[in-house]
Amino acid sequence: MSKSTESWGSRVGLILAMAGNAVGLGNFLRFPVKAVENGGGAFIIPYIISFLLMGIPLLWVEWSMGRYGGSKGDHSTPFILDNMTKKSLWKYFGVFGIFTNIGVMSYYTYIESWTLTYTIKSLKGDFLGMDIAKVGQVFDQYVDISGGVNIPIIALLAFTVTLVINIYILSKGLSGGIEKVAKIAMPMLIAFGAFLAFMAFTMGDTGKCTDCNSHIGMDFLWSPQYDSLWNPKVWLEAAGQIFFTLSVGMGTIVCYSSYVKKRDDIALNAMSAGWMNGFVEIVLGASVVIPIAVGFLGLDWVKENAGFMMAFKTMPYLFDQWGHVISVIAGVAWFGLLFFAGITSSLAMGTPWMGFVQDEFDWSRNKASWTLGVFIFLLALPTIFFFEYGVFDEYDYWTGTVSLVVFALAEVILFAWVFGMDKGWDEINYGADIKVPKIYKFIIKWVTPLFILVIFLASLFTPKDNDWNAAINGEWVLDKSSIIGKILHIGEDASWLIDGSLTTIFYVDMSRLLLLGTFIGLALMVKHASKLRKQKLNK
Ligand code: ALA
Repeated sequence: MSKSTESWGSRVGLILAMAGNAVGLGNFLRFPVKAVENGGGAFIIPYIISFLLMGIPLLWVEWSMGRYGGSKGDHSTPFILDNMTKKSLWKYFGVFGIFTNIGVMSYYTYIESWTLTYTIKSLKGDFLGMDIAKVGQVFDQYVDISGGVNIPIIALLAFTVTLVINIYILSKGLSGGIEKVAKIAMPMLIAFGAFLAFMAFTMGDTGKCTDCNSHIGMDFLWSPQYDSLWNPKVWLEAAGQIFFTLSVGMGTIVCYSSYVKKRDDIALNAMSAGWMNGFVEIVLGASVVIPIAVGFLGLDWVKENAGFMMAFKTMPYLFDQWGHVISVIAGVAWFGLLFFAGITSSLAMGTPWMGFVQDEFDWSRNKASWTLGVFIFLLALPTIFFFEYGVFDEYDYWTGTVSLVVFALAEVILFAWVFGMDKGWDEINYGADIKVPKIYKFIIKWVTPLFILVIFLASLFTPKDNDWNAAINGEWVLDKSSIIGKILHIGEDASWLIDGSLTTIFYVDMSRLLLLGTFIGLALMVKHASKLRKQKLNK
């Protein structure tokens, strides 16, 4: 339990911080790419249904769990969960709420640092007149993609600077740091996004190729296709995107809302932040990268080349097609927007650790934030040095994908079935400024847990080549992308050493061990904290 008197300064600040937590690189980089990979408009319906049946319920659950825990003086998920049940084992599920953030923050801040560097590069006009191949090379050199171990000095420096900025803001607290940043970053982000969306809308047919028209890109993303409803892969991807984009199942929302005052509304606040994220994702996120790329390179090119790195390897070249002056403005708007989106999310990822050590070990805010900095720095190094060995992807998969689903499932079961749906419903509605539709009591109790369970099981046992028909008809061979397939390295040579050289599998396994060690370390800290609590009680 904490002696902390920390709280949010204003309602607007809280909503902007929460929206900032959700709106992130996921809205502008992950969403458009996932949408293209899953058939454009075919992605939209599973995405919206996942939002309504899983995203919104989880938002309410997490906000109310946080406020409930905060009213008892707890600001970290292990002890917030512990407060809701008599069974002490639940607090170990709460470890996910710290672990996920530390894991994601380490690679996320690295990408955030690229956006900072690229904002400066754009401002300096570094990309003017470059062809697409050269722009790609600049990026490869920056992160040192040259085969093997990378030591990208400038990228490492930029990462350190970005991390120090994050830690400094965290050390200033909620109202003195995070809230102030959110109040500046969110409006700027929307203004930059609106400018780029305007450019994309007005560019239309560029005549660069037969289908080089930004409107074709928009049609592709926004025209719903109903046949995807029968494709489990699209559902898995859409649900995964909902988790990542809303930051549900991460622990950040629970932590942020633990600083909300007991009588303050959460029902409307949760909706405001959630819908703002949806607007930024579907309207702005979908209006920039893909339509502009289709406008200059055509839909076929985009379908073949869409990927996360497009933001860095292609966009500066595309902006240059608008002429040098607009190119500089668009580059600063794009990378500046990504930086603001990124930092408001990474700050949120820092708070669960801070809440935990401040509450349990009475650490000062400074000590809590700078230890976090060291922790994140060390954990990020393997993703930087061994980027090409898939370490980065491993972190993203285990901490940014699987952990979210596991933790969300635990949370909703605890909330609806252990804490109890009647009590849970009262929590959601206490002080509410809106009338929460009664149907959600049923949804939170039945639909959301089942939905997440199905998602989890389907990820655990994904059939080969995503051929669900064959699987249902009895030929269930696991795909290498299933969780089990990944753990067992199905279909891969799992040797660590071939011809005297360490293999990619070695680096992959080492990063998994590192993450597992981090989880165990945090669980031991929670165990120790629990012992300290008991000692304090017995005094
Ligand atoms: N919700 C954050 C994002 O979308 C993590 O990037």
